[in-house]
Amino acid sequence: MNLTNKKIIVTGASSGIGKELLFLLAAYQGVRIIAVARGVEQIDTFWGKVIPFACDVSSPEGIDALFTFAQQTFGNTDLFIANAGFAYIEKLDEADWKHIEDIFSLNTFSPIYTLQKLIQEGNSEKNFVCTVSAAAIVSLPAYALYCSSKSALRHFINTYRYEKPANLHITTVYPVATRTGFFDKATGKKATPLPFPAQNVQIVAKAIIKGIEKNKKQVFPSFIFRVAYPLGRAFPFLFTIYSLLEKRKMSRWLK
Ligand SMILES: NC(=O)c1ccc[n+]([C@@H]2O[C@H](COP(=O)([O-])OP(=O)(O)OC[C@H]3O[C@@H](n4cnc5c(N)ncnc54)[C@H](OP(=O)(O)O)[C@@H]3O)[C@@H](O)[C@H]2O)c1
Repeated sequence: MNLTNKKIIVTGASSGIGKELLFLLAAYQGVRIIAVARGVEQIDTFWGKVIPFACDVSSPEGIDALFTFAQQTFGNTDLFIANAGFAYIEKLDEADWKHIEDIFSLNTFSPIYTLQKLIQEGNSEKNFVCTVSAAAIVSLPAYALYCSSKSALRHFINTYRYEKPANLHITTVYPVATRTGFFDKATGKKATPLPFPAQNVQIVAKAIIKGIEKNKKQVFPSFIFRVAYPLGRAFPFLFTIYSLLEKRKMSRWLK
């Protein structure tokens, strides 16, 4: 997709990957971007190209309100980047339905519902980009709910690719650990250890933009993961060893 003059929505735009995406997208000529988060005070408007919209996208009401605002602001959307998401890093113990529901609502239900809303807009060419995670593919101990919420999303999209209308292009993104506030938010503590390997947010955002421009189906921003993924598929015990090493690191930290 050529990004010039495009009408774009980015969720999770107030920090981390979404914030960096805004910075890169705003450099394109003629773009209009609706930048979504629950707290939008920190969002730069980039000389009026970016329109902040405060919204909780973990509920259908929030997503409906976002689409109504987008219709009023610029009509149909050319590119939707479903990037808002969060993790728990935890020792799962007490049964807590709401805890499970909260993470699946944002990480899984929200992008699926958004995709349906986008399709309802009609036959114009549109791109849907979704920040999934390498954790959808490889098990990360202490992240069971996060991994499963992203894995369900990944499998939905992989299956839906066979069903989708021709005017819709879907790009899924699989970052490894990315240095944002994501991990400290997941524990509520400072200096939470990151899984191996870790990469900078600029690398991830640049890879996403490149992937959109080249109409990629999948984007793997980490070179290490691009090498490790086929190896792990061919020799699954390599992923098991990785998960055991991460387990050792996280169980020490969670004590
Ligand atoms: N960082 C990583 O290592 C990593 C790796 C792989 C994949 N990812 C995925 O990449 C995406 C972005 O992560 P990040 O590292 O940039 O995290 P981040 O820095 O914590 O940013 C998360 C963004 O999502 C917004 N958000 C959270 N809950 C929301 C809600 N209910 N409604 C609307 N917006 C909401 C936050 O703003 P408000 O709090 O103001 O709403 C913030 O702008 C997530 O989907 C994450 O799962 C991250």
